[in-house]
Amino acid sequence: DDPRIQAIQSSIRVVPDFPKPGIMFQDITTLLLDPKVFRDTIDLFVERYKSKNISVVAGIEARGFIFGPPIALAIGAKFVPLRKPKKLPGKVFRQEYDLEYGSDCLEMHVGAVASGERALVVDDLIATGGTLGAAMKLLECAGAEVVECACVIEIPALKACYYMSSLIYTSSYVVAGT
Ligand code: PRP
Ligand code: MG
Repeated sequence: DDPRIQAIQSSIRVVPDFPKPGIMFQDITTLLLDPKVFRDTIDLFVERYKSKNISVVAGIEARGFIFGPPIALAIGAKFVPLRKPKKLPGKVFRQEYDLEYGSDCLEMHVGAVASGERALVVDDLIATGGTLGAAMKLLECAGAEVVECACVIEIPALKACYYMSSLIYTSSYVVAGT
């Protein structure tokens, strides 16, 4: 349908066996090297969210920090970083989540988001959906309504994984989804 989407998909480099054997790494740094494709990516999000009364864009460290801020500026929302543990100096909400091996954690400053705000969560990629699920819980801790989670790309083989998560099922949007 939209000719921009094909260009976005083909600008993402796939690196086999990185960071470990069997993983097909989706490298969005090659997308960032093409200003037209980077701009089109941001525009697709902005077109979808500009009239949805979103007051908060929450970006997930680290790669959600690349796509979140330009979207926030374009739709007139504040940007709130969701950080890996022990990076934020103030009082935080903390949410642990499971990874393929082990677990990780995201934190958000208490007071950054007010109860009742409408939030968009932004990251580069959805694999199992665990990271986005943790992000949604943080926003919900602050009393915000998560309108949607938005990513550039997904791992199609893991779709079943995140569709099984009730958190993600009705609320994710992937620009270059297949
Ligand atoms: C990657 C990616 C997403 C997450 C997706 O981040 O950027 O945030 O994994 O995986 P999931 O859907 O299975 O939770 P990662 O934590 O590897 O690091 P980075 O963004 O800091 O590079
Ligand atoms: Mg990440």
